[in-house]
Amino acid sequence: MEKGALLYEGKAKQVYATQDPERVILHYKDDATAFNGVKKAQIADKGVVNCRLSAYFLEMVRPTVPVHFEKQLSPRDQLCRKVEIIPVEVVVRNRIAGSFAKKLGLAEGGLLSRPVVELFYKSDALNDPPVNEDAALALGWAKAWELLCMREYALEVNRILIGFWDGLGVDVVDFKLEFGRIGQQVVLADEITPDGARLWERGTGRHLDKDVFRRDLGDLSETYREIYHRVFGEQVS
Ligand code: TMP
Ligand code: ASP
Repeated sequence: MEKGALLYEGKAKQVYATQDPERVILHYKDDATAFNGVKKAQIADKGVVNCRLSAYFLEMVRPTVPVHFEKQLSPRDQLCRKVEIIPVEVVVRNRIAGSFAKKLGLAEGGLLSRPVVELFYKSDALNDPPVNEDAALALGWAKAWELLCMREYALEVNRILIGFWDGLGVDVVDFKLEFGRIGQQVVLADEITPDGARLWERGTGRHLDKDVFRRDLGDLSETYREIYHRVFGEQVS
């Protein structure tokens, strides 16, 4: 399968057409951005690390959550089903952090007694504002059954990720997912990577995610290479 026309360029990935109208190639770039593109940098190997991590996690959840991912074609390229992206981002939180801590005036780190699911409107122009189910329904962004699937799939991904990272001594603090539709099916789309998650090393609280870049906590390239090594047991080559 070869890359055709560039259909869309996002902050961290490009989407290319293929000869098959139902399939696209996602190309993972080394670009990192934060604060809706205000802060930018090239992070060596980030594309390679995230491409393989996302492939790995999407395969891991596939038995119980439909995913757009089909196969990894090269270190930075994935073959995926073409989806219509639902413009509602789903965030799952297990601990207090980030915008949740800020808006409620809480210290970061506290464990929540149950996972919290939040919805955000996917809009760069508006900086992804928070929305609720009623707004998403009233504005026609998603159907009630689709929102129900998204919530259940997101909570299932949460259970799987918690179990996996627990074995590596890492706490899943929160993460963001995007979903798409293929006909009458809701599928997990986009990526599962440390760009869209908070992963804290148990005991030290060290950040193993893009907050290293957002908050100037160290070298994101080194952090991502370390995550790759922890997950795959080998160096990024
Ligand atoms: P938040 O605490 O800033 O709302 O972020 C919640 C989760 O969503 C966190 O794991 C990082 C991820 N995230 C994105 O993937 N993209 C974004 O634009 C933002 C702000 C957060
Ligand atoms: N994804 C957003 C950006 O690229 C914000 C973030 O991840 O912090 O600017």
